[in-house]
Amino acid sequence: MRSRRSCLAVPGSNPRFLEKAQGLPADEVFLDLEDSVAPLAKEGARKNIVAALREGDWSGKTRVVRVNDLGTQWTYRDVIEVVEGAGEFLDCLMLPKVEDPTQVVWLDTLLTQIEKANGLKVGGIGIEAQIENARGLVNVDAIAGSSRRLETLVFGPADFMASINMRTLVVGEQPPGYTEGDAYHYILMRILMAARTHDLQAIDGPYLAIKDLDGYRRVAGRAAALGFDGKWVLHPTQVEAANEVFSPSQEDYDRAELILDAYEYYTTVEKRGAVMLGDEMIDEASRKMALVVAAKGRAAGL
Ligand code: GLV
Ligand code: MG
Repeated sequence: MRSRRSCLAVPGSNPRFLEKAQGLPADEVFLDLEDSVAPLAKEGARKNIVAALREGDWSGKTRVVRVNDLGTQWTYRDVIEVVEGAGEFLDCLMLPKVEDPTQVVWLDTLLTQIEKANGLKVGGIGIEAQIENARGLVNVDAIAGSSRRLETLVFGPADFMASINMRTLVVGEQPPGYTEGDAYHYILMRILMAARTHDLQAIDGPYLAIKDLDGYRRVAGRAAALGFDGKWVLHPTQVEAANEVFSPSQEDYDRAELILDAYEYYTTVEKRGAVMLGDEMIDEASRKMALVVAAKGRAAGL
């Protein structure tokens, strides 16, 4: 699985940002043709993106392009121009506002045709599906199982809140007046369950108050604690925060490796299933929990 702790949004209409993004330590960049690009700038943005993918240095990053949603007139040309122009320099396409599995199947079929016609590896380009409205959430299990190309489900809080008439203007924070619990908990868990059922990654969406880094860390920390794999970043200052929040702490990582070593020793040498490690009892389920933390830590280079 590719690492996606930080997924950097880069408007395809802005060549300066396309250049700058290459130097940032984001795990993923997604070059946008959708909501950060004005309607009259869409065609120019396609060309900028093809050039940036072909000529830029994106080494170490997962390269994604977000096309427009299927309710628009732009999607098919977005896909054809980007994949014909730079298919061999592209890891995934992101499809926004996915509402049902047929939309992912449409993209899968179109990708297969373009790959065949252009001598690209068939199935080589993955898909990220954004869940950003009620219909998408209700259908999320079927969407998650709709294509072998799918790699992630991505929560889109801004569109989602608008689609369900949530009474707020601030993306990522609790709606004013909602004083108990977490208004996002159900949505995040629903997406996470569908993702895990189909071995996909689960990614949290944007936090728009880019000057409030403490707020970003708090909201990202909530998704990370549930088990999400990463979050969008809209600004360079959010990149390091995301990489840190979605990696285990050194202390947790060391503890996980210790649990794995101790459990291995006790079960194989002493043939015991449940043993004490310090003040805590560990068993086979503890080993599995430790494996999750250890894998994230190793991926983060701890
Ligand atoms: C992202 O696309 C969002 O709508 O939050
Ligand atoms: Mg959106």
